Amino acid sequence: MTSSLTNVTVIGAGTMGNGIAHVFAMKNYTVVLCDISEAALERAIATIGKNLDRMVAKEKISDEDKIAALANITTNTDLASAVSEADLVVEAATENVDLKLNIFRKMDEHAPDDAILATNTSSISITKIAAVTKRPAQVIGMHFMNPVPVMKLVEVIRGYSTSDVTLDMVMEASKDLGKIPTEVNDYPGFVANRILMPMINEAIISLHEGVAGVEEIDTVMQLGMAHPMGPLQLADFIGLDVCLSIMNVLYDGFGNSKYAPSPLLVNMVSAGKLGRKSGEGFYKYEKGSKDIVVSDSFK
Ligand code: CAA
Repeated sequence: MTSSLTNVTVIGAGTMGNGIAHVFAMKNYTVVLCDISEAALERAIATIGKNLDRMVAKEKISDEDKIAALANITTNTDLASAVSEADLVVEAATENVDLKLNIFRKMDEHAPDDAILATNTSSISITKIAAVTKRPAQVIGMHFMNPVPVMKLVEVIRGYSTSDVTLDMVMEASKDLGKIPTEVNDYPGFVANRILMPMINEAIISLHEGVAGVEEIDTVMQLGMAHPMGPLQLADFIGLDVCLSIMNVLYDGFGNSKYAPSPLLVNMVSAGKLGRKSGEGFYKYEKGSKDIVVSDSFK
């Protein structure tokens, strides 16, 4: 570890939170993983263990590295004590504005005065989040990509008041994780989702209009553009509810009809077809199996 931010607290033990804890712990940071649910924390530690095992099996790390990484993580269900010694807090809670604003108010109250408060939000305004704290210069976006241990990018988002010092420290910590941090400004969807989500939305509109089927659309983008997953499979991977909420942020933020979410996307979310996490989206997923088949609705 070369960063001066040695104590890192991660708020939220879901997919992104456990991935973020995983990568900091592997680089010997002292990590506190915080969630209101004890069960979520237990699941997160089990997932991190499984993902570290995968890296051991691929001979990317040794067994000792795995043990050391797990030993660097403690869990806590109380936010106030979880952030009390943090140099850097990375919030990765559910993507809900009011929830995030409340978490930032509490973090601001209980974290040391010099701590940096980062958010892994995929599209909520950093400037708006920073404004509920007394330290807007120390608030910044640290947008990791899923799966965090694999994806190289950290989109580092500068809010209206983010200071150069905060930016430099977060860029340095991200590089220390072996990631490529990329600085962007705080506008709806930042860069990643401003470009990715309209592509996914257009794929859903194409499916809805009958231009092509699920597998055909994904094959075109996978083989034609060398994307690791087609846009519909990626939508399932991200979660259709997350895709819809990001489209709505773009639509509201720019007031431009080109960002209107596909009615099919809206319907699927209303029907609870959220993709991989609900077992069905554009494809059907069986627990424990890597095989996927097109959902009956699109056959
Ligand atoms: N932890 C550690 N390693 C993991 C892992 C995890 N959670 N998941 C996968 N891996 C590793 C595997 O061990 C494997 O390693 P090797 O290359 O050494 O063999 C490698 O990643 C590839 O995994 P798999 O062989 O299991 O599967 P795959 O080849 O189908 O790749 C994938 C899976 C990496 C997810 C790939 O399909 C991919 O890159 N998909 C696109 C992901 C993407 O676009 N993510 C961004 C989503 S957008 C976002 O996150 C932000 C937002 O705001 C919405």
